[in-house]
Amino acid sequence: MTTPKTATLTLGEQSMELPVYSGSLGPDVIDIGKLYAAMDVFTFDPGFTSTGSCESKITFIDGDKGELLYRGYPIDQLAEKSHYLEVCYLLLYGELPSATQLEDFETRVTRHTMLHEQMQGFYKGFRRDAHPMAIVCGVVGAMSAFYHDSTDITDPWQREVATIRLIAKLPTIVAWAYKYSIGQPFIYPRNDLDYASNFLHMCFATPAEEYHVDPILARAMDRIFTLHADHEQNASTSTVRLAGSSGANPFACIAAGVACLWGPSHGGANEACLQMLREIGTVDKIPEYVARAKDKDDPFRLMGFGHRVYKNFDPRAKVMKESADEVLGLLGVEDNETLKVAKELERIALEDPYFVEKKLYPNVDFYSGIILEAMGFPTSMFTALFAMSRTVGWISQWKEMIEEKSKIGRPRQLYTGAANRDYVEVENR
Ligand code: ACO
Repeated sequence: MTTPKTATLTLGEQSMELPVYSGSLGPDVIDIGKLYAAMDVFTFDPGFTSTGSCESKITFIDGDKGELLYRGYPIDQLAEKSHYLEVCYLLLYGELPSATQLEDFETRVTRHTMLHEQMQGFYKGFRRDAHPMAIVCGVVGAMSAFYHDSTDITDPWQREVATIRLIAKLPTIVAWAYKYSIGQPFIYPRNDLDYASNFLHMCFATPAEEYHVDPILARAMDRIFTLHADHEQNASTSTVRLAGSSGANPFACIAAGVACLWGPSHGGANEACLQMLREIGTVDKIPEYVARAKDKDDPFRLMGFGHRVYKNFDPRAKVMKESADEVLGLLGVEDNETLKVAKELERIALEDPYFVEKKLYPNVDFYSGIILEAMGFPTSMFTALFAMSRTVGWISQWKEMIEEKSKIGRPRQLYTGAANRDYVEVENR
């Protein structure tokens, strides 16, 4: 971070020099940290459209170019050449691991995949029809009750153990949320399988018969995990950082991230997108839905389109589209009607002046639901899968924040409520 420049802010008679910092990539930032003390004003940016909330070295997005880098490496290269656990190492520790470092990391993660046996009792407290995200949110939060020995955030060793536990146990937590919802027995993790294969096995095996994980499906699953692993200071990541800034334990912070991810404007969009594609149903209905999306008086939006940061193709959507073709080809469902609707909708929207002018492109969620459905996941599981993949991003960002010893996050406000007034007794109101 360099400070060659300053910005001058003039307010009435007062003026102030504000330091301007340049990062290694991306726009400069103006440091307004001393503004309130010097001028008695706050900045106002609801939705944080122009606000950098922290300094970070983990992930970079160039929304205009449609570029996403994890620790400097382009997402398409990582999706093609790397695999999820290597990407986890990269996000957490900053560099690609050597062969020995990778082996050690994979062994540590693999050895932590089981859940405390008493957690099964916790699952059984949920209603059978609970949404998997409700279960994941609750169980991740409950980890702080089961793993007391990794909740002291001032101890680097405990932070590391919590990190490994979260990455290792989330697949078990998510798979068990699924098993619980369909009334099947929990399947224990298998340490001889890789991360994605183990997850698929825990979801689709039963004690009654062998389940063979197809390596192409496992590869596609692993790629989905990689594509979702981190995305800089989005809503859920900022939630994790804000929760962590108060000193809350990592399990509580990740549970907060899961809760935030659930919303349809964020991680819940993949579920909403597939529901929308199914509702459209056939290619001939697309113009009707495109017209609704453009109608100011209709709240309908094309789910899986648009992004706060990307004003170009979401680079993850490109990889996801290729994966969709590969997975559907493997499963022999290339003529899947939903995929046809998705491709045609993408084609029409990308030519429509409304979407072109507003720079609305397909985002990561546009194709992911189609792949996940083809793999056999119900829509209610989509966001839970996203939460599982994003856990490494959340924990990497949390770790970075704790290591930098930052202050508690405390935004201010523009108050527009009633001014000071006296209490009126109930009989006089
Ligand atoms: N369909 C139709 N119009 C849209 C869409 C859409 N999907 N997205 C944005 N617009 C329009 C808005 O109506 C608005 O129009 P206006 O300027 O005439 O009022 C303009 O484009 C800008 O939209 P905002 O909502 O202001 O943009 P913002 O950056 O706040 O929203 C968001 C981004 C929430 C992702 C939005 O594009 C959206 O709701 N998309 C659909 C949901 C979705 O796919 N979310 C997943 C995001 S990716 C992720 O979380 C992993």
